[in-house]
This record gives sequence, structure tokens and C-alpha cells, in this order.
Amino acid sequence: MARTLIRDLSSHLDETVTVYGWINTLRLQRRMQFVLVRDHTGMVQVTHPRGGEEDWIEAAFEEVTLESAVKITGKVVANPVVKLGGLEILPESVEIVAQAETGLPIDEHTGLDQRLDWRFLDLRRPSQHLVFDVQTTIEQAMRQIADDEGFTELHTPKLMGTASESGAEVFKVGYFDRTAYLAQSPQFYKQMAIAGGIDRVFEIGPVFRAEPSFTSRHATEFTGVDVEIAWIDSVEDVMAFEERMLQRVLATVRAERGEQIAELFGVDVTVPTLPFPRVTMAEALTKLRATGWDPAGEAVDLDPEGERTLSALIAEEYGHEFVFITDFPAEVRPFYHHRRADSADTTSSFDLLWKGVEITTGAQREHRYDVLSAQALEKGMELAPLAQYLDCFRYGTPPHGGFGLGLSRVIMLLLGLPSIREATFLFRGPNRLEP
Ligand code: 4AD
Ligand code: MG
Repeated sequence: MARTLIRDLSSHLDETVTVYGWINTLRLQRRMQFVLVRDHTGMVQVTHPRGGEEDWIEAAFEEVTLESAVKITGKVVANPVVKLGGLEILPESVEIVAQAETGLPIDEHTGLDQRLDWRFLDLRRPSQHLVFDVQTTIEQAMRQIADDEGFTELHTPKLMGTASESGAEVFKVGYFDRTAYLAQSPQFYKQMAIAGGIDRVFEIGPVFRAEPSFTSRHATEFTGVDVEIAWIDSVEDVMAFEERMLQRVLATVRAERGEQIAELFGVDVTVPTLPFPRVTMAEALTKLRATGWDPAGEAVDLDPEGERTLSALIAEEYGHEFVFITDFPAEVRPFYHHRRADSADTTSSFDLLWKGVEITTGAQREHRYDVLSAQALEKGMELAPLAQYLDCFRYGTPPHGGFGLGLSRVIMLLLGLPSIREATFLFRGPNRLEP
């Protein structure tokens, strides 16, 4: 018999249906057997009065174990006493499709590390499944706005011959008789696309960072959203696109998944107003120092505590969860960030914080070959390994800018998850390459 999804059962009252799913709960009483069956759309009670000898259904429910995969055929009947949707299934046949071993390795009290060892079982919890449905909704909303605004989606290579962007934080991999590097960002390739006349590019893809960080927001492999826009007037064009995109994403998530998120995570998804607040780094430092942060008065960049405090101050002042920090000093930014015409020590760049955590770094790029080369030398870099990148600016490349957004961080913050480990299908960190 064809499968009926559990969420659709209420439209099949008094019909005989077959549900496919897992044994969630077994309450086997003296006269009655109550079995909760779960599929990816919900949970249903299967109610069976024991029939004694030759009752194959009774026997199957005695034999079956928690988390076994089953197919159950039976009549759907209304029963106002049943909390799960006011209905139940009276089974006519039970097929144990795959019996689970007894003694499940994880339950709701298991710590995160062991849950990650058994991630496939962990994912059977509806909340964990929802994380990836939300991710799907986010990516679709991003692709929609990108398409509406004339972007081209690219997939840049993750294997690179030189560790160009910074050199640190890059994984080396054996590549035949030489060494390759895993891309720590599509930065140079998306700029190459701009040089190639692709007006607006974006990519959603893997990013690798050889950072031995054990914080709740760092992974060694994560999904990044990268955007690059040509012919900009200033970095403001880039920020304006990003805030439009995030507003669209959160409006879509709220409309399509808001109820489920409220139910399973207790989070009310808020759609941010535009424009997001903007503060310069200098203003941010002043605000923070007024709270006693950085008593020595030497900081030029924010640490995680500074980011949390700044977001709290902005939330108080503007009632907004997001804040752009702009005008980063050149000393804490990479050589390819464009410098302000009126202040050579200041870049036309930004970070975006959401609820106290950096989710984006972006900038206008330096597109003039000679200025770019000079900035690289000033940072103590050698030009030879950068030659192919620098060549992109020798034959007429327009002003452009873009950003990199950490998708896994966005999901963590959106759902109020304690760690990026739960916002990732299979987390990768310094101590975790398995499963
Ligand atoms: O700030 P990042 O390092 O910036 C770049 O990669 C630039 N090439 C972007 C640009 O266009 N200028 O990385 C971008 C974002 C961060 O803001 C953060 O959200 C996320 O990627 N990110 C990480 N997420 C998880 N684990 C890590 N180790 C991350 N490192 C960065
Ligand atoms: Mg950054």
C-alpha cells in the first residue's frame, strides 16, 4: 500500500493507510499496546488491544525494539483523548522492516560529543532534522534574491596550487608529486570572475580553515556564502545588498518555518528592519571603552567580548539585532581591501555582527594593479606567488566589492543553538574528522 505521511493523517479519517517510520515509544500494558511511530513529518499513536494467541500484531509489538524501522497499516480513527493530533491508528498489520539493536548508544541525556559520534541517530530527533530544513529554506531564499538581482552562481575550486590569500590557516594536501592547499575562501576566484566580466557572482560552498580553535563558533570546514559585485560606487552598495538579502532570508524563514521553529526551539524569528545600524570602528571603540572594555586603550580591533558588548549596546540604542562595523584600520585587514581616499590607514571594509557574533567580513577591493601591488608589499608579502591574482587587475577590472558570510553561524544564531557543531550536518574541528 502507498505511504501516507503522518502529518497528512487527519485528512484520512476512517480510511486504512500505511505509515512508514521508526518506533519512538513502546508502552506495552497488560491489556493494551500503545506504540508511537515517528516519521520525518510527525508522530502518531498506534493503539492495539492485546488479542492473545495468534495475534501477530501483539507479537510484533512485543518483539520490536525502539528505533526499529516499521511499516504499519491500519485504520485512522478520531480519538479526542489522544494528545497527538486527536487521532490514532488501529493496526491491521505490522511489518518490522529493519529491527534496531537494543541498547541505543544515545538518548536525550547524552552529551554533545557522543551525540556527534552517533550523529545519524541524533538526526532522527525532529529538532535536528529541522535545522537542515531551515538551512534549505535559507539557501533557497538567498538564491532567489541573487537571481532577482542578476547574480551568477559559481562553484570555484577548493584545491589550489598556492596558499595565496594569507598562507596561515590553510590545509595542505598531497597532490600527486606536489602539495595543494584547500581554499580558505573563494576570495581570489570570485574576483577573477569579476575580472572576467561576470557582473555579480555568488557561491554557497565549503570553506576550509586550519585554525586550532575550540570555540562554539569555529569549525575547520564550514559552508560559506560568498558574494562579489562589480561597478560599485562604494562599499555601501555591498552592505546594502547584504542587509536586503538577510531581510529576505529571515522573512522567508519566518513565513515558511516560523511555527516549527517556535515549537521545537522556542525561538520567535524576527525580520530585521532596514537599514541595519552602522558604526565605524572608531565609534565602536569609543562606545566600548565607555563600558570599561580595553582599559589600556590600545585595542584597534574587537575581541569576542567586545563584539558581544557592542551588539548589546546597539540592541539597547536601536532595538536592532544586527550591526555593521565599518572603517577598519588597514593594519588589521588584508592587503586587498581598498583604502579610503580621505584616510590611507582606513579600509573601506566592514564586519557584520548578529547577536554579538561576527557573521560576515566584507570590503570594497583594491582594483588598481599598482596600488594593490604596493599594498601587498607594504604587508611584507612577496609578489611572485600573487602574480596570477595580480594579473586580474592588469586588463581593465572595474571597482568591486563583496563579502563572505558564515552560513553555519547564521543557523546557530537563528535557532539559538549553543554551538556551530549542531548547526552543521557533520561537524569538522581540530579533534573531529569522524564520522
Ligand atoms: O571573516 P572571514 O575570514 O572573511 C573572508 O573569508 C573574506 N575573504 C571575506 C570577504 O569577502 N572579504 O570569513 C567570512 C565569514 C566570517 O565572518 C564567519 O561568519 C565565517 O566566515 N567564518 C567561520 N565560520 C565557522 N568557522 C570558522 N572557522 C570561520 N571562519 C570564518
Ligand atoms: Mg572576518
